[in-house]
Amino acid sequence: MAQIAFEDVSKVFPDGTRAVDGLDLEIADGEFTVLVGPSGSGKSTALRMVAGLEDATHGAISIGSRVVNDVAPKDRDIAMVFQSYALYPHMSVDDNMGFALRMQKVERESIRSRVGRTAARLGIRELLARRPRALSGGQRQRVALGRAIVRSPEAFLMDEPLSNLDAKLRVEMRAYIARLHHELGTTTLYVTHDQTEAMTMGDRVAVMRDGRLEQVDSPQRLYEHPANVFVAGFIGSPAMNLLRGRVAEDGRLELGTQRLRPARRTTHVGDVVVGIRPEAVSPVGELGDDVLELRVVLAEMLGSDVLLHLHSEAPSVLTGDMLDLAGELDVSGEDRFIARVPPDVRPAPGSVVRLRVDMSRVHLFEAGSGRVILR
Ligand SMILES: Nc1ncnc2c1ncn2[C@@H]1O[C@H](COP(=O)(O)OP(=O)(O)OP(=O)(O)O)[C@@H](O)[C@H]1O
Ligand SMILES: [Mg+2]
Repeated sequence: MAQIAFEDVSKVFPDGTRAVDGLDLEIADGEFTVLVGPSGSGKSTALRMVAGLEDATHGAISIGSRVVNDVAPKDRDIAMVFQSYALYPHMSVDDNMGFALRMQKVERESIRSRVGRTAARLGIRELLARRPRALSGGQRQRVALGRAIVRSPEAFLMDEPLSNLDAKLRVEMRAYIARLHHELGTTTLYVTHDQTEAMTMGDRVAVMRDGRLEQVDSPQRLYEHPANVFVAGFIGSPAMNLLRGRVAEDGRLELGTQRLRPARRTTHVGDVVVGIRPEAVSPVGELGDDVLELRVVLAEMLGSDVLLHLHSEAPSVLTGDMLDLAGELDVSGEDRFIARVPPDVRPAPGSVVRLRVDMSRVHLFEAGSGRVILR
């Protein structure tokens, strides 16, 4: 096993597209790191440079203690799993899984036992004689994983391996891959555009945008301490409410005509972006200097809780990149505030609710740069 490191790595394609821009990232030996970001942010390109499927334009990539920029892909001792399983259709599962070992001229008996053991671990032993087309999507993906595992590589590289599966199977396979990593302990770099997948699977999550690394940290730290507006809006579902506001001279936080008293004073005065997670508020009866009054647009029942879509006086922030995240964010152009409340709270549309904001969980960002304001 080995660590993987990017040192100031950039990739500029011949047409001038800068897909990866000055990437510095280390994946420790045995660690499961997820690269996450919107479409086109450079995740696959970064992974493909580790595999040797793309050359780096600048910088050094190492696997273990070896810089691999000039090492041929087949000599890098890594195994890659793709979204399209890329199984050989004319070969049995058995032959698909043993293919790389046969290429390496591993002894037949040894191939047989390694494939058998891996198939048993993956629960596909009874499928070894079948062709890929006679398998379900989840079974095919397990064969693809098996083909990577039998090689006992230094590291696994996975590029959206679950995105062809339906939602339920994806959740199952997510847990499955996490358990497998726990058992094998192989260094893994995993690419997805799905922040939930990133948060549930990664020891560490690296958030990319436009070829640049925005922040890398444990899922919990990213959630609790986003370094900028982009990460704040990207990590978490439903997304954090991001509103344009102002820190007044007396330290109060102004959101439209409403004012909140921050838990701690900041030295910053003037325009800010205020971040409040949907789950950082709770319905209350009385007003107070930590209470927002908001008009209900819609109450969405989720069973376990209710999502209140509220009208906010303060304009919400939607950066161009966030709009790319599609579906997840409301792009109706109205200034919405989303609150997650207990299932018994069911106010009628048009009514006004009072929400106490957990002021210790309010995030402040610079209005221009979007960088977090530390207090
Ligand atoms: N061969 C290529 N030539 C020119 N541009 C490319 C090439 N491959 C990728 N790009 C561009 O590089 C950027 C990053 O692409 P990449 O595939 O790494 O993104 P990604 O984060 O994996 O996106 P997705 O989530 O859609 O898979 C994009 O702007 C893409 O159009
Ligand atoms: Mg990709």
